[in-house]
Amino acid sequence: MSMSAREPLTKEGLLYHIHLKPGDVPRYILLPGDPGRVPLIARFWDESRLVAEHRGFVTYVGRYRGVSLAATSTGIGGPSTAIVLEELLRAGADTFIRVGTTGALQNYIKLGDLIISSAAVRLDGTSKIYVDPEYPAVASYDVLLALVEAAETLGVRYHVGITASNDSFYVGQGRPGYRGYLPDRWRGIERKLGELNVLNFEMEASTIFTLSSIYGARAGTLCAAIANRVTDEFDPGAGLVDLVRVANEAVRILYEWDSLRESRKKKYLSMRLLLEAARESGERGP
Ligand code: URA
Repeated sequence: MSMSAREPLTKEGLLYHIHLKPGDVPRYILLPGDPGRVPLIARFWDESRLVAEHRGFVTYVGRYRGVSLAATSTGIGGPSTAIVLEELLRAGADTFIRVGTTGALQNYIKLGDLIISSAAVRLDGTSKIYVDPEYPAVASYDVLLALVEAAETLGVRYHVGITASNDSFYVGQGRPGYRGYLPDRWRGIERKLGELNVLNFEMEASTIFTLSSIYGARAGTLCAAIANRVTDEFDPGAGLVDLVRVANEAVRILYEWDSLRESRKKKYLSMRLLLEAARESGERGP
């Protein structure tokens, strides 16, 4: 039996790459690049189960402090991340938080610090296939604020600002390629972006932000600095526990805000709404 090439599914009717079907995931999804990080994220949940594992795309669903959520690995870079996003949207998700690692471009950012992206410089290739480079790659303000709130609550060091995303880890981030190959376009790119107050380099945020905006979904990005390109330091384990704790907590906070907003029939989250709710719960007492 032949099936549609426009909307590829497996014989069992699953989305072709991530092996999920519509309804298999809740709205909130954490997106690490590394499939091995998915069970690490789920370790902090009250309950979790592996629901799909195919071609490096691993998905767990579960509950964290009463909130239904999922985590799916994107792989590295724009192309595989766009595939995951396309299929998760079809599966029912609408809110994405990248949970990644990154190279800091400012000397004041220490290894292990967390970086919350407000926007991403689109040096990747995939987002340009979707839309012209003038289209912005921006975080959703409520997801960004939930990440800030979670980092504050958990008392971790964090920074908020612009990120640069590139599909290339070596040459595209100004690292010499094999035998020192480094075209002029990318020579010193980490310094040039740093001078423009860009905080960090990673590989997926611009794709996630651009596609989410096009499709009317929400997105945020949280990364742990495992490298500093100014001080030339590297520690692949730095900040990973804080990263996961803050990402999970941000989902809980966002759920709380979404529930409040929906109960008050508001389209947008506002400071006024949060302050009103805080005042009312203070009046009701503990
Ligand atoms: N991920 C990147 O893309 N770059 C780094 O320097 C570290 C992690």
